[in-house]
Amino acid sequence: MLTIGPISMERPLLLAPMEDVTDPPFRRVCKRLGADIVYTEFISSEGLIRDARRSNQKLKLYDDERPVSIQIFGGNDEVMAEAAQIAEAAGPDFIDINCGCWVKNVVARNAGAALLRDLPAMERIARTVVDAVKLPVTLKTRLGWDRQSIRIVEVAQMLEQAGIQALAIHCRTRDQGHEGIASWEYIEQVKRVVNIPVILNGDVKTPEDVRRAFDTGADAVMIGRAAIGNPWLFGDAKRFLATGEGPQPRSLDERIGVALDHLNMSIDYKGDRYGIIEFRKYWGGYLHSLPLASAVRKELVVMNSLPEIEARVERYREEVEEFNRQREEWQRAQDAPEAQAA
Ligand SMILES: Cc1cc2nc3c(=O)[nH]c(=O)nc-3n(C[C@H](O)[C@H](O)[C@H](O)COP(=O)(O)O)c2cc1C
Repeated sequence: MLTIGPISMERPLLLAPMEDVTDPPFRRVCKRLGADIVYTEFISSEGLIRDARRSNQKLKLYDDERPVSIQIFGGNDEVMAEAAQIAEAAGPDFIDINCGCWVKNVVARNAGAALLRDLPAMERIARTVVDAVKLPVTLKTRLGWDRQSIRIVEVAQMLEQAGIQALAIHCRTRDQGHEGIASWEYIEQVKRVVNIPVILNGDVKTPEDVRRAFDTGADAVMIGRAAIGNPWLFGDAKRFLATGEGPQPRSLDERIGVALDHLNMSIDYKGDRYGIIEFRKYWGGYLHSLPLASAVRKELVVMNSLPEIEARVERYREEVEEFNRQREEWQRAQDAPEAQAA
């Protein structure tokens, strides 16, 4: 059971925070397709208190994506506390602290995963942020700085004491980046020593993975990269958990319908130019494994106007219909008795 303040959910699926990916349009798509809780991408605490325009823009939330968490990062407890108050004013359901980001310019500021090398600083930041806001505070981290220094069990106990209300664990160390296999076995060890909910993250790609992830004893499962190409994964996994049924084949109309809704939300949020440009990275996922996809994707990712994109998508629909018609004809010819006799 995942309980964070007033939120209480049985076996929920969470969309992981992802920089340049989990913007409001993508979060809303995942929410509609079954994600239970979504997170903003991480937001710099320093950027927020300096009122940096880009950081502040990331605070925009929509009612139809709730419950939603704002994730912040930073290496200074006072700056983090002030940033948490700014984030709280934007009205999320809870605040999440990033202690897992491995990239150089974050680690160099003693933020993100760097805090795994400096547990007193991690604890100070956790306590200071918890004290600074009324909303529940959660934290996302990794197993440890490197494979020689995995201290997640101790870290979880320390964070529970500091008032953190749920802990998401990306089951890799900082030196692994996104390489290697996530080590889910640590979840069980952490669950044994803390009472706060533990959220499993790392390498959950299929409905079967989701079931195995819950089998570790995790209270919630968080999905990142696999949702980028396949936001239907949340709904598919829920159906699988409930009934054991595998994913339904997804029709072309359904895929294109969701892609165009997503694109329209992106344009609403970012305006025509950036809404279209920043959506381009999703075309590959929406068109994945469809017939004739590669050619249409190449054209769509250089288009700059919505009517042009809609017209090309409509033409693509017709091309696929024609492709399917020809394929069926060919199949019928193969099955015909004279073809079999030949
Ligand atoms: C493009 C990208 C951006 C990410 N940005 C963030 C971030 O802003 N905050 C964070 O806590 N983790 C971030 N992560 C890590 C993911 O939340 C997640 O921990 C990681 O991808 C492992 O989960 P997965 O195997 O389901 O993708 C990012 C990962 C990717 C691929």
